[in-house]
Amino acid sequence: MCLYTLVLDVFYRRGQVFFISLHQNASSNIYKEEKKMKKLLCLGLSMLFVFSLVGCGNDDSGDDKAFKVGIVQIVEHPSLDTIREATEKQLKTYDGKIEVLYENAGGDQSMLNTICQQFKEQDVDVIIAIATPSAQAAANFSDEIPVVFSAVSDPVGAGLVKDLEKLDGNITGTSDEIQVDLIMDLAIEMYPETKSVGFLYNSGEANSASNLDKLKAYAKDNNLSVVEGPFTNTSEIQASTQSLIDKADIIFAPNDNSVASAMDVVSSLTKDSKTPLFVGADSMVGDGGLATVGINYEELGKETGNMVIQILDGTSPSDIPVKVFKEDLNVYINTSVAEAIGFGSIDTLKENHKDVVEIK
Ligand code: TRP
Repeated sequence: MCLYTLVLDVFYRRGQVFFISLHQNASSNIYKEEKKMKKLLCLGLSMLFVFSLVGCGNDDSGDDKAFKVGIVQIVEHPSLDTIREATEKQLKTYDGKIEVLYENAGGDQSMLNTICQQFKEQDVDVIIAIATPSAQAAANFSDEIPVVFSAVSDPVGAGLVKDLEKLDGNITGTSDEIQVDLIMDLAIEMYPETKSVGFLYNSGEANSASNLDKLKAYAKDNNLSVVEGPFTNTSEIQASTQSLIDKADIIFAPNDNSVASAMDVVSSLTKDSKTPLFVGADSMVGDGGLATVGINYEELGKETGNMVIQILDGTSPSDIPVKVFKEDLNVYINTSVAEAIGFGSIDTLKENHKDVVEIK
């Protein structure tokens, strides 16, 4: 019961007592007084009643209502965590209350549906789905709940939207379209003798499968051969990495969520064998990859948050085109790894590229 109703109730009871006492004392000479008091009391009570309606109405009017946003993430690894933190930070700028519910699937794709189902039962207003596998699961709920996906490398290839600009569903988001050509150009610049590239990936991740197609196209144009190192379970990463070390000159691990969450295994094998490991994201360079050309994921996370705010403010997801992050790229290089595998000086690299970020 709202405060106003409570006050009204107390007033009303007091009024009754007052009337009773008036009636008890009723006599002809105070009859006029009584009538006047009754009128005043009625007026007071009606005013209170109106007040109570306005007051109670305010509680439900939306001014104080907290929106609920559910964040689903396939696994925790540094890049996805950076994205989520930047998104949440942006949501805090919203002029209103947002309650954030966060769940991650610990790398288990079968958990994603359960998490989204839970969000549905919790009546969330928007689902934010970080990375491709999460987005594919959340898309199945987009009939009822608006979905904003985040860092999906190939939203069309993953079947989330038909077109990045012309949307017709209850789903939109941000994309980190991996610049496979630029990463391979860098690899060839650093290792001009390269003849074969090993591609390490989880074949169950649509984002990695579409990067494999790009790599194959690049290899065809540049007389390289591609050796595939697929795995379906993280327990197989070690064996896949080892076989690529044995068969290829360099390895390319795209921004595959399973590889990103097992970089300790991959990087120690490649470092020990002095195999150059090119990767698909800055965080993977930080975790022991040799180099990449890529974006700043904080910006992407921030934009994801902005899209959610627009939707909470009433914009339809289909009126917000997918935003692809493929500009403002940096060259990220891990200088300790470069040294450990005997790459030598990175001075020439720094002369050739204006945006070199050194990570140790
Ligand atoms: N782009 C990935 C996807 O589509 C998600 C991702 C973002 C990622 N940053 C990454 C994966 C860094 C590995 C490493 O699912």
